[in-house]
Amino acid sequence: MWVPPQRIKHALPVLRAPSAEQAARSRLFSPLTLSSGLTVAERSWVPAMVPWRATDEGFVTDAVLDWYGRFAEGQPGVIVVEATGIRDVPSGPLLRIGHDRFLDGLRELVAVVRTRSAGRTRLFIQLIDFLRIRRRPEPAKFFAKILTLTERHRALLPMPDDAIRAHLAALDDPSPFLDARELEALRYGARERVTDDHLAELPRVLPALFADAAERAERAGFDGVELHYAHAYTMASFLSARNTRTDGYGGAREHRVRLPLEVYRAVRERVRFTVGCRFLCDEIIEGGSGVDDACYFGVELARAGMDFLSLSTGGKFEDAKQPRVGEAAYPYTGPSGYECMPTVLSDERGPFGRNVPKQAAITRAVRAAGLQTPVVVAGGIHSFEQAEEILARGDGDLIGAARQSLADPDWFKKLREGRGSEVRRCLYTNYCEALDQRHKTVTCQQWDKEPGGPRDGRRRLVAP
Ligand SMILES: Cc1cc2nc3c(=O)[nH]c(=O)nc-3n(C[C@H](O)[C@H](O)[C@H](O)COP(=O)(O)O)c2cc1C
Ligand code: SF4
Repeated sequence: MWVPPQRIKHALPVLRAPSAEQAARSRLFSPLTLSSGLTVAERSWVPAMVPWRATDEGFVTDAVLDWYGRFAEGQPGVIVVEATGIRDVPSGPLLRIGHDRFLDGLRELVAVVRTRSAGRTRLFIQLIDFLRIRRRPEPAKFFAKILTLTERHRALLPMPDDAIRAHLAALDDPSPFLDARELEALRYGARERVTDDHLAELPRVLPALFADAAERAERAGFDGVELHYAHAYTMASFLSARNTRTDGYGGAREHRVRLPLEVYRAVRERVRFTVGCRFLCDEIIEGGSGVDDACYFGVELARAGMDFLSLSTGGKFEDAKQPRVGEAAYPYTGPSGYECMPTVLSDERGPFGRNVPKQAAITRAVRAAGLQTPVVVAGGIHSFEQAEEILARGDGDLIGAARQSLADPDWFKKLREGRGSEVRRCLYTNYCEALDQRHKTVTCQQWDKEPGGPRDGRRRLVAP
């Protein structure tokens, strides 16, 4: 993973844990009612995290039930189930909701969370659409089979097609003969974009796909959905300032937000439960959307009626590291990925809540527009004091903590009960994220320090 060039190693801050009485009077442990009418018992929020535990066909497994059941025991206000694919297409061991056959497993997941949180935790599911990305090919295979020869190649190299392929494969540097997308396909693996001609139909198909998926989520018993408009995926690419579509869905930000609003309206028409979305406070890539755009999007999405806005940062393909041959690019390996999941190896600002000021700007823009839509903040939030300060300043209304909740799924509960000194702390070194990157079963290095539990060799598979 990319780290800031300063490479300053930050120590974990010394914490002051609240007593049970202090926690009872705190903002963090006070309830919040969303405009959908759903009351969240406390402002703690476990954001979506893909654990790579579904079957290759996208079904819920016992390991998925164990994963969410374990988070539920910590009784956070909200758990958001990992990014779940809305299309009925193979996508590896990622959960899917693109067909009714997935409903039984999802119903079981809801039941497990209800039981193990004693009915306290609200359960949302993150709905994702993503475009195709291919693994980085062997150069020989790329030139022999993958590269589509065009008149451009034939004009540059006037010889039979087979000879062109052989010639390109033999070159140390074939870049003079390839355009930017062909070079990317060779060096990184081909990646679709929302601006591709063959994807012109996206605005026509996506609203119905999201609405169908949301309806399934409601039938499965979830409390709501989080529409995934963040990171490297389709909807975030529509919001991106790099979206140059000329059909009214790209270019000016009024046009870039159009499809996210149409998707929202299609979903809203179909379901009665909570509907919110996750989007970026800043894309952190050259030519990408920044905080000003995000303030505008926040107001538009809130005005449309979203029940919550969840904010993240970065996590883009555009600055991702070159993958190894046979692997796909991963959107959390460049500077934008760092901002999404910052580590203790950092710059002067350090990893703890470093993007909360940007997220606060969006909260304030939404409030300035006269809208009270709750905002979820996230990124390096690790302590009671930090959470209370965020809530007291009005930077956000709900506290998202992914990795700290992974390290210790009971941490919010321990704080609430005045047992903060027992919290198993996240080290913010991203061992978990490295597993995610390789699509390996995600676990936490902190779990392995405690004996017992189901294991996969050395690694403990469920939090102690
Ligand atoms: C293993 C792992 C998987 C993740 N998967 C998702 C995901 O499916 N959807 C999403 O929006 N964010 C995902 N994230 C990002 C987190 O939700 C969160 O925004 C990020 O980790 C920063 O919060 P933190 O500092 O509290 O960990 C993932 C993070 C991790 C560590
Ligand atoms: S693996 Fe490391 S970064 Fe990830 S949750 Fe555990 S301690 Fe935190």
